[in-house]
Amino acid sequence: LESTYEVIQVAGVPSSTNTFAQDVLSGLGAESKELPAKYFYDAVGSRLFESICLQPEYYPTACEAEILELYADCITARFPSGVRLTDLGSGDCRKSSLLIRQLLREKRQFTFVPVDICEDAVRSSIHALGKTFAGSTLAIQGIVAEYFDALASLRQRHEPVVVLFLGSNIGNFEEGGDERFLNRLHAVLKPGDSAIIGFDLIKDTNVICAAYNDANGVTCEFNLNLFDRINRELGGNFDRRYFVHRPLFNTKLSRMESHLMSLREQTVTIAATGRSFNFRENEMIHVESSYKYSPQKISWLAEQTGFAIQAQFEDPNHYFQDAVFQRL
Ligand code: TRP
Repeated sequence: LESTYEVIQVAGVPSSTNTFAQDVLSGLGAESKELPAKYFYDAVGSRLFESICLQPEYYPTACEAEILELYADCITARFPSGVRLTDLGSGDCRKSSLLIRQLLREKRQFTFVPVDICEDAVRSSIHALGKTFAGSTLAIQGIVAEYFDALASLRQRHEPVVVLFLGSNIGNFEEGGDERFLNRLHAVLKPGDSAIIGFDLIKDTNVICAAYNDANGVTCEFNLNLFDRINRELGGNFDRRYFVHRPLFNTKLSRMESHLMSLREQTVTIAATGRSFNFRENEMIHVESSYKYSPQKISWLAEQTGFAIQAQFEDPNHYFQDAVFQRL
């Protein structure tokens, strides 16, 4: 038996330059400026995000890795034989590899399906997995796609599915987007399928703020890379020197927000959008939200969307929770 590796692109994705231009046009043309967070993840952005995950202030990755290390056997014990382990927003696959290691140890049958918007991340993570698990039989089908396109492609499969939605990715939607995501997930799963969902828990605001403003400035660089991408791919003339990264905790909505703030009155032209955008001094572009959850909210979400919570695993500090959502 040999390991098999395959990468496919799901139709309609990754987002064409056209869509990127349209999204930038509507986001920067709005009264209250914003840009969708998914555009952070080009090849450079995905590498920078891996580096964020290694910063001492960025606790979610370390806490979730600890959870997966402590409870890998409990988690994988529930997986049906021949499962398609679908990792949405797989990035460098460092966390999913903790579950893969356990499955290989137990000689279980499964296919690992890393899904990421960034083709570079899919290819290099598969390459890294091949090295890490050299000598074992591992079937990998990488998918380059956005979440909902990847979910749609799940409708055709015959195997049981376990979806991994780690890293508090569920917290990055707009308001109510978590519930909409779970409804759409429910629609493509079958009874008995499940999802392991990583939720960042509400905690001391200082701890949260530090995680999105690391002292090495990697998060700042990650945010500003969005301007470089717009300049390169859409012919923009953003000047990084006149913007700063402003992380803010929104208490009312229980979410961390990343903003890019204009340091002066200025005009930025973006060729592919066919227009210019004016910025006032101190005007902000909202580029990301990261919701923080209470245990009650997690139970409520499951109840609203047709899932039963089978198990909940937390790190010793109770900073993070991985919940097993079973589709009813
Ligand atoms: N899912 C991650 C989170 O919510 C995404 C993230 C972490 C992120 N740090 C960031 C996104 C900084 C943008 C900027 O924590």
